Amino acid sequence: MARFIQIAVQDAAAIRDELTAGLSAPTAAIAPKHFYDLLGSKLFEAICELPEYYPTRTEAAIFADQQAAIGQAAGSGRVLIDLGAGNCEKAASLFPVLQPSAYVPVDISTSFLQQAVERLQAQYPAMPMLGVGIDFSTTLELPPEVPSGRRLFFYPGSSIGNFTPQEAVAFLRRVCHACGSDGSLLIGVDLVKDPATLQQAYDDALGVTACFNLNVLNNVNALLHADFRLSGWRHQALFNAVDSRIEMHLEAREDQRVGWDGGARRFERGQRIHTENSYKYSRAAFLALLQEAGFAGIEAWTDPQQWFMVCHARVG
Ligand code: TRP
Repeated sequence: MARFIQIAVQDAAAIRDELTAGLSAPTAAIAPKHFYDLLGSKLFEAICELPEYYPTRTEAAIFADQQAAIGQAAGSGRVLIDLGAGNCEKAASLFPVLQPSAYVPVDISTSFLQQAVERLQAQYPAMPMLGVGIDFSTTLELPPEVPSGRRLFFYPGSSIGNFTPQEAVAFLRRVCHACGSDGSLLIGVDLVKDPATLQQAYDDALGVTACFNLNVLNNVNALLHADFRLSGWRHQALFNAVDSRIEMHLEAREDQRVGWDGGARRFERGQRIHTENSYKYSRAAFLALLQEAGFAGIEAWTDPQQWFMVCHARVG
């Protein structure tokens, strides 16, 4: 059996306070980490299979095409720390190239992660694996049980784009610190491209992304004993060219009142709840961001269309 450690960084009361503050703000917002309950994690897996959602398969193609170069840059025998591991498939696909000495998948969605680690451990019985349930957006302090050795942090899927650029630098600084003196980072980031392609990736014809976005309300109902009716809301994705980001919103289909433990508010038809940003970077802007966070010796690979970029960076 794979080992698993759950670190409660935020108690239930703190989560409720944060959610309540977000819902009560003039422009209501729900933090994107709440997408990833068990159903949300499964819906995100389905998003990755959609024809419109190019990031996952473009990144996978870069990993496949650049295996040798990535293996050379990252080295073998590292402790592979996978941030937001989800189903662990991306990291697992790199095991033959990276030959990690140990695998440490980290995710907020613990039950989903636990299932994935059990499966992977059965496939690789000899590899030490330690699943860590933690909200790594608030802390990167990993438990002492993490095997020692040179660390390779893995942060694929352009999840870095879900932070604002300012938050991204702060987060990457923490990763840099957690690398120690001899660690490094392998990270994937989505690049700026024509708005129609971007828009479709976040508003697919099947409506899976709409389900994923709406499901956050199920999770809020559970966490806060709220009474959101999902039929009263619609998914909205729009590209904000000024800030170079896709914005995800839920828009009220009608006037309504939503109540929760200790509070309530009215939403008018057309009013929105902001659920996520996905920033899109130029190659130069992202390399500058990595440097600002303290990384150096950066190598970068893209696909032929320059839609996505994978970078390896060392502690500077
Ligand atoms: N990290 C993913 C991204 O920004 C997350 C994501 C994909 C997402 N589709 C979404 C988040 C739809 C919210 C809604 O691409």
